[in-house]
Amino acid sequence: MEKVKIEKSDKHFLIEVSPKENCSPDFLRDWALDHRPFLEEQIGKYGGVLFKGFSIKKGSDFEKVALAIDENLTDKHVFDGAVGTKRTRFVSDVASPDLKDVPMPLSMHNEDSFVSKVPPKIMFCSLTSAPWGGESLVADCRKVYQSLPQEVQKKYRLQKLKSMLVLEDKLFLANSLIPKNIELIEAFAKGEGAHTVKRISYDMTRFLFTVPATLTLNGEEDVWFNTLHQSVFYNKCVDIWMAYKMLGGIKNRLRSLSLIGSSLSKDFITFLKKGSDPLKMHDCHLENGEKITAWDRFQMGLAFWKNTAVLPLKDGEFFVLDNRLVSHGRMPYRGRRVMVSAMTKPQPIA
Ligand SMILES: [Fe+2]
Repeated sequence: MEKVKIEKSDKHFLIEVSPKENCSPDFLRDWALDHRPFLEEQIGKYGGVLFKGFSIKKGSDFEKVALAIDENLTDKHVFDGAVGTKRTRFVSDVASPDLKDVPMPLSMHNEDSFVSKVPPKIMFCSLTSAPWGGESLVADCRKVYQSLPQEVQKKYRLQKLKSMLVLEDKLFLANSLIPKNIELIEAFAKGEGAHTVKRISYDMTRFLFTVPATLTLNGEEDVWFNTLHQSVFYNKCVDIWMAYKMLGGIKNRLRSLSLIGSSLSKDFITFLKKGSDPLKMHDCHLENGEKITAWDRFQMGLAFWKNTAVLPLKDGEFFVLDNRLVSHGRMPYRGRRVMVSAMTKPQPIA
């Protein structure tokens, strides 16, 4: 323990680990192997650990440390809509490094919380930080739950909702999982906890999952746990407004108004073309029949932003999260940004 510094930051809620002398990936791998129970305890208590000042330069450096923290990593991410490039067996790009201008923030989410199995741990490492923006965002889902008005807590606590997912075959093929064969897709989906599988076109399948709105961890802690807040267009506007507000300055406020304007006009054009009312399109209910209202979702979005901390990672810095306790997102960015991730094998949520 004496070979590293372990500190609390006043800027975020994760615990920080940094080197005293040796910053090599081999040193960190050995230290992590020797201190696994300690790391587990810290992740459970604070929601995650941020590693600063170590010399992690490539995917293979990150993989060796990630495996030392938890050897149970997965080499597949089947329900991810944006399949990242694999750098090593267990480490993939979060997004294409060719993206150079990403003005929209990425909404807060717990990885895969819209399906029946989630990775218990997720790790992100910045190999090249963006010249402008691109900071990681984290929110403690215990605090998010506590920030919600009591009537929302009461309505959603331990309730279940239906989550629909439509996937193209190429996502499965990209994961080297299954060929284009409905029997195999059905068998696979059953194994992943989907209760309805329907082929809706020559290369698309619809899956239906039942997922919890909240979780109670360790028999006592209530955790807000789903992505309902990001499923409607006006919450996208909340995300844009809050992210650019965080950046400060009049220019950023004006930029956010212009992005909100273009986002709303795109939705309006979809409405005119398809005749689908965006409010009705996202009409959905809890399993007990209660309607999930726009106002509820708005309050969920605000509760996330109220508890969101910014992690401006330098090159080579990384963090490990308990994916049920902490949700993650990303600020808008410009320029080349290389972020990689590793996660543990998905487990049933509840
Ligand atoms: Fe994610």
